[in-house]
Amino acid sequence: MITNWYKDAVVYQIYPKSFCDSNGDGIGDFNGIISKLDYLKELGINTVWISPCYPSPQKDNGYDISDYDDVGREYGTMEDFKRMADEMHRRGIKLLMDLVVKSSSDEHFWFTESMKGKDNPYRDYYVWKDPVDGHEPNDWQAGYQISAWTFDEKSGQYWLHTFIEGEPDLNWDNPKVRQEIYAMVNRWLDIGVDGFRCDVINLIAKDYDSDHIGDGKHLHEYLHELHENCLAPHDAMTVGEVYDLTPDEAFEMVAPDRGELSLVFQFEHLREGRIDGQRFFMTDFNAKNFVDTLAKWQYGFMGRAWNTLVMENHDQPRCIDRFGSVEYRKESAKMLATLLYCLQGTVFIYEGQEFGSINPVFRSLEECDDCETKQIQDHLVELWGMEGALKAISLDSRDCARVPVAWDGSETGGFSDGKAWIKYNDFRHEVNAASDLADENGVYRFYQKLLSLRKSKRALSRGNFELIRNDEDGGVVYRRYIEGERDIFVVLNYSDKENAFDFSSYKGELLLSGYGDIPDVMRPFECLVFEK
Ligand code: GLC
Ligand code: CA
Repeated sequence: MITNWYKDAVVYQIYPKSFCDSNGDGIGDFNGIISKLDYLKELGINTVWISPCYPSPQKDNGYDISDYDDVGREYGTMEDFKRMADEMHRRGIKLLMDLVVKSSSDEHFWFTESMKGKDNPYRDYYVWKDPVDGHEPNDWQAGYQISAWTFDEKSGQYWLHTFIEGEPDLNWDNPKVRQEIYAMVNRWLDIGVDGFRCDVINLIAKDYDSDHIGDGKHLHEYLHELHENCLAPHDAMTVGEVYDLTPDEAFEMVAPDRGELSLVFQFEHLREGRIDGQRFFMTDFNAKNFVDTLAKWQYGFMGRAWNTLVMENHDQPRCIDRFGSVEYRKESAKMLATLLYCLQGTVFIYEGQEFGSINPVFRSLEECDDCETKQIQDHLVELWGMEGALKAISLDSRDCARVPVAWDGSETGGFSDGKAWIKYNDFRHEVNAASDLADENGVYRFYQKLLSLRKSKRALSRGNFELIRNDEDGGVVYRRYIEGERDIFVVLNYSDKENAFDFSSYKGELLLSGYGDIPDVMRPFECLVFEK
């Protein structure tokens, strides 16, 4: 039987390397996660998504998987993993794994076999093509000025990697590959995993004569197969990572009657403040556009599919730095949470977001770890000099959210007893979970109230959406409504200035307030939720 439990999931993403290290080796692990489950439960989440914790050579921080059926020893043993899953389930928390099947690691057995030659039985597990006129089969790019094709001298063919070379693309057009993947997915479901976040899932199907990588003509067929063979029989939840789709295109993957995915992430609002949505190339952030994009997706899915509510993950810098204000850190953290999580959809929170984490500062290129930054860093230095490049990296690189979670204000931020695999956050002494929890008006407590409110009000958890105003100067009002319940009005001042806009007509019973009371004049990043 298929239920819609994903609609009420409140998902917390753990990036295992950076979450909590229990044995002092500088790498987060399963026992560390177990030690924080009560903290997560109390926050009000009911689902954890754990980023890849499989064996990996770590060329892309674990997204390059070399064995789909085991866990990486740096995180613990399979026994530790199962104990972690049990500890979650005992607390009513479900567990989503990361399913990364667009590509594997180049150290996966299938690929090392595939490399052996054209007649190896694993050859067609990956995408091999003959040269065209002595060149790459097409002009697909894997990053800044890097071809997605690498030539293999031995066999005279090219193989495909749509991201780094350490991640060769699996050939989904080969039925054997699909069978292997479905069987693997079922093994994890049988262990007790409750679902998957599906990495760049629209890239599994490709049309090689198209300019565009991904969204190939067989995409829906493959997703449906995955659903029928694995997900439906286990009532598993899925959320697909997809980029650059319109609501109508995304709808095709989540339409309830199609049997493909439960949810997809949409990241269109996260393009705001970047030139053409391109990471590192920043322009002025426009709050009005940001809100309009969120509203566009609310309307786009309303009554027919279900949104995801996300503004941080392991690929994005901290939302306060990009969409809020470090100066008004707590106020903007609360306002952003209110703006986003009072919308219709499934909540996604990234580790550390719940206490208002901000980006670290990268003072040299050696401090960076991320493969994507490494691909482009020389180009950034050429463009803007070292200082400008480091500024862009500190604002917008993937490492911003990958430094260890700061649990307390100590030297190691309470993450580990030792040196971490990546630098610690420069601001850990002031910005950390312990000091936030000590504040009655802290960000964590606000998240707690907001999540429990969502749960208790059907207008919030299920209701429709209407954008009432979205002003140039930051005045934002939207309404959530459902038959048989009073309306809910979300009233925001999305600005670092006072705002005299008249919100009296939305005033009712106060359910939530960022500053703790109702003002005469809206203060910077003020947020109010009324029921009326
Ligand atoms: C996804 C992951 C990202 C990874 C990439 C390559 O976008 O979120 O971290 O680098 O896939 O698989
Ligand atoms: Ca460890």
